[in-house]
Amino acid sequence: MCGIVGYIGSRSVVEILTSGLRKLEYRGYDSSGIAVHSGKEIKVYKAEGKLQNLDDLMQKHVSETASSTLGIGHIRWATHGAPTTVNAHPHTCNCGKLVIVHNGIIENYKELRADLEKRGCKFRSQTDTETVAHLVAYHYGKLQNLTEAVRQATKEIDGAYALCIMHQDNPNVLVATKRNAPLLVGIGEGEYFVASDVPAIIEYTKKAMYLNDNEIVTLTRENMDLIDIDNNKISSKIEMLPWEPVALSKMGFKHFMLKEIHEQPDVIRNVLSGKLFNTDEPINLSEVNLTKADLKKLNRIQIIACGTSLHAAMVGKYLIEEFCGIPVDVEASSEYIYRKTVTDEKTLVIGVSQSGETADTITAIKQSKERGSHILIITNRPDSTMARFADSLIPVNAGIEVSVAATKSYVAQLISFYLLAIYMGEVKESISQVFSKNLKKELVILPQKIEQILAHKEIIQRCAKHYSRYKDFIYIARGINLATSLEGALKLKEISYINATGYAAGELKHGPIAMLDETMPVLAILMKGSVYEKILSNAEESKARNANLIALTDSDDPKLDDLFDFIIRIPEVSEVLSPIISVIPLQLMAYYIAEFLGKDVDQPRNLAKSVTVE
Ligand code: AGP
Repeated sequence: MCGIVGYIGSRSVVEILTSGLRKLEYRGYDSSGIAVHSGKEIKVYKAEGKLQNLDDLMQKHVSETASSTLGIGHIRWATHGAPTTVNAHPHTCNCGKLVIVHNGIIENYKELRADLEKRGCKFRSQTDTETVAHLVAYHYGKLQNLTEAVRQATKEIDGAYALCIMHQDNPNVLVATKRNAPLLVGIGEGEYFVASDVPAIIEYTKKAMYLNDNEIVTLTRENMDLIDIDNNKISSKIEMLPWEPVALSKMGFKHFMLKEIHEQPDVIRNVLSGKLFNTDEPINLSEVNLTKADLKKLNRIQIIACGTSLHAAMVGKYLIEEFCGIPVDVEASSEYIYRKTVTDEKTLVIGVSQSGETADTITAIKQSKERGSHILIITNRPDSTMARFADSLIPVNAGIEVSVAATKSYVAQLISFYLLAIYMGEVKESISQVFSKNLKKELVILPQKIEQILAHKEIIQRCAKHYSRYKDFIYIARGINLATSLEGALKLKEISYINATGYAAGELKHGPIAMLDETMPVLAILMKGSVYEKILSNAEESKARNANLIALTDSDDPKLDDLFDFIIRIPEVSEVLSPIISVIPLQLMAYYIAEFLGKDVDQPRNLAKSVTVE
């Protein structure tokens, strides 16, 4: 994972690097570092822990760095080697003249390291990246040309990388290259920026070039040269980024997560706008580049995603099968890519990803594209790597999500699946006009129902306070809300580090029920509809085993008060739409428990917002 930045120009480089790293914190935050070229020498500064530690360190070195206008920076999510200062990037060669930052994983680093050690290189860190520093330095020693040294080194490297490199003897050169990891170059007047992602550079320039795999760019203050790994000159493909600088603010909320939870009603309105004009008219989904005939011919769909996006995919499966009668498989990308899958040109493959940069999902999408499938991507980042593989692209328009725990992007993905399923059902004529009209009417008023939940969030806060002392939770649901139980449990795990598991309620008695006693609260997602009575029975079975019972329900049945220890009541909604609103209290529950426990809600330990390594 990790984020990298680089700059060459005439501005003071430290501010550009540290503010760029701040925008890339979603890619990791366990250590960071920068290297600056003073014109004469290179100095490296690194700090373990949050980026603030690097900011504090740089404050102490203002006088020695203020005039530097060339540098590279890195924010890390540890893969090889613990998150210590010595393992933090930038890494240097033994003479300290060559410095490098890297995002990705060098798969053959052990072999390369053994060779380099034989040649006399002394390694200081446990990282795979340090290998690249020594390898480029080795070639530089022979060639005395930084670009050529990088080109030769990358020929020997297997794996994924985005690299930014400078050398003390080249005070007017910055070199960058990539393979299977994102990297772009921002173009200013007499200055260039390098970054893993747009937010790191957008406040300085909108003119940019995305690097393709195996391309190497050499930047001087005056010029940009682009070649491929075989030394062919390439003309640069400059584009204007469709982005505005966004001032990321918590808008008075204590955490980004709480702010993002509260944004959800507007996110839904936003996703619906332009697609659902009038409940009497068909859904307008011009983003789907499949003809009616193509859609009618489809006989199989695979949805591939990870984490929260995988839960949205589960709801998507339910909807598409229900509305369109097309069989849908949902699979974690990390599982999909290492087995023989039955995917071909007759399969529609849907990739779902908030970031569009999740490595496993990118690999899965690439594999299915090679097999001839139509690729439909549902993402919050229409400028992402994944979006570049799309034959059809549905942007979910949730806005930038800062908190590592996905909330508003999940709800936006759900709404996108409802729109897609209704659209396909209308095209295939597999749903009636009355059914789709009623569904659309209800979709439009969902934001108000969520606003009602948010307006009474103190009930959930009370519930969270009471249950924050428990160490384990079980969430049960059936049918379309099974995904909600998994998502609620995932939210709790990732930000409070409490063990929580979502189960299909009917499965409880096939094993998990053995764990139940008074130390294990069971939260039942009890929405009115086809499985209401069944879940109620499963709740009774849990009560009989002394479990402490919480209900999340849209029922006002007073009898529930006798069975459940705590009831979170939410507005009534038809069963098919219930996942959109039933997840909101679970997001709040996870948030408040984590907050009571004093956890780092927006940046939980060991996680990164975007998982860019397999
Ligand atoms: C969600 O809260 C998680 N942080 C995580 O599971 C995330 O959903 C997963 O890594 C997939 O990311 P993506 O949607 O950007 O592909």
